[in-house]
Amino acid sequence: MKFIGDKIAIGEIPVSELAERFGTPTYVYDEQKIRKNYRRAFNAFAKHYPDFKMFYAVKSCNNPAIVNILRQEGAGVDAASVNEILLAKHVGLGGEDVMFSGNFLSDEDIRQGLESGVIFNLDDISILPRLLKFGKPEILSFRVNPGYGKSNVGEFVTNAGPNAKFGIHPDKVMDAYRMAKEAGVKRFGAHMMTGSCITDAEYFPFVTGLLMDIIGKAGRELKIDFEFIDLGGGLGIPYKPGEAALDLEKAAELTAKMFRDKVAEYGLKPPQLKMEPARYFVGNAGYIIGRVHSIKESYKKIAGTDIGMNTLARPAMYGSYHHIYVDGKEQDPRAAIGLCGQLCENTDFWVKERELPSTIAEGDLVVVENAGAYGFGMSYQYNGRLRPAEVLVNGDEATLIRTREDFDDMIRHTFVPSRLKS
Ligand code: LLP
Repeated sequence: MKFIGDKIAIGEIPVSELAERFGTPTYVYDEQKIRKNYRRAFNAFAKHYPDFKMFYAVKSCNNPAIVNILRQEGAGVDAASVNEILLAKHVGLGGEDVMFSGNFLSDEDIRQGLESGVIFNLDDISILPRLLKFGKPEILSFRVNPGYGKSNVGEFVTNAGPNAKFGIHPDKVMDAYRMAKEAGVKRFGAHMMTGSCITDAEYFPFVTGLLMDIIGKAGRELKIDFEFIDLGGGLGIPYKPGEAALDLEKAAELTAKMFRDKVAEYGLKPPQLKMEPARYFVGNAGYIIGRVHSIKESYKKIAGTDIGMNTLARPAMYGSYHHIYVDGKEQDPRAAIGLCGQLCENTDFWVKERELPSTIAEGDLVVVENAGAYGFGMSYQYNGRLRPAEVLVNGDEATLIRTREDFDDMIRHTFVPSRLKS
């Protein structure tokens, strides 16, 4: 995003032009920014540990155009469900370029996952006997809960430690690998995903150390040569102006050092290092553009826009901050203003009060930053306010990559028994 005078542009295109052409609300992604984010992250780690591969956790933004950008850059896919495995396949990725990190899998998930030939990061030892019922995977990895996690988003996305639903308790990890080995599985990996949106560089080597102590012992005792260790995602981005960014270079250097030291300490054959970030790739490369439809002067001054908790759930769901710009008015004097969407829910009053341009008026465009990750992907239909369009900008070119939903989408898959039609 940049300013051309007082007008906001994404890539080279003014948001007013994007809004005119595609309507509002619309998610807009900057292709060049996604590519730069990927390369920055990949190079930071690969520099210190060349046998390194990144996977894109598609849950954060599952538009096939976006997944294709990351595929072109060299990323595999981290899938949370069978449908996300199919999405990977849809963009031409399969086999060991896809990790299946779903949890509480059904038999059908397991069967289809096995059939697809992707790598399972099994979330619990209890799933192993069920998996073996359907067949023996070529390679198997377990998701370890190393006992600690954190997140800038808070407890909501702290994915490890005693309160997390994910991963295998450290005391059961040895048994899990032993059971798999005894069942004849020959190739192994290990996985963790301890938290999302972390901007503390020291965190990454710390949790890597925790995982490696658990995995190192298992490797040594069970004589397993781990082919890969996957450290998950979690590379954070700043959301508030002035908030410190993650020192990626430091995180990568310290993590690679910790990894190498632990590999040596436990006498492991050096495994491939994997990570599966998402927010770092697409978070700051996505925006949602909305229009102000009315200004209410009540107990508070409220600007009502077509961006609501249905289109961007994070503020209502986690209390997350997203920075907001008003096109053409950023230099104007500021006043305390609330911002809400059009849903009949008071949680849709998603910015209770913020210093915004006091001149904000009907017809203005607002641009919400850092909406690329867990934005569209978490949007839903409610109140007949349907999912927005998605547009990809590449320099001065803008392409519609998902059409706005319409009424047919709202009633798709519904059926009315004939007795109700008379
Ligand atoms: N791998 C696994 C197994 C995951 O579950 C996730 C995200 C990632 C990788 C990517 O994590 P990232 O690099 O983006 O931190 N909806 C929340 C975030 C939920 C994260 C879920 N798992 C939010 O809007 O903040």
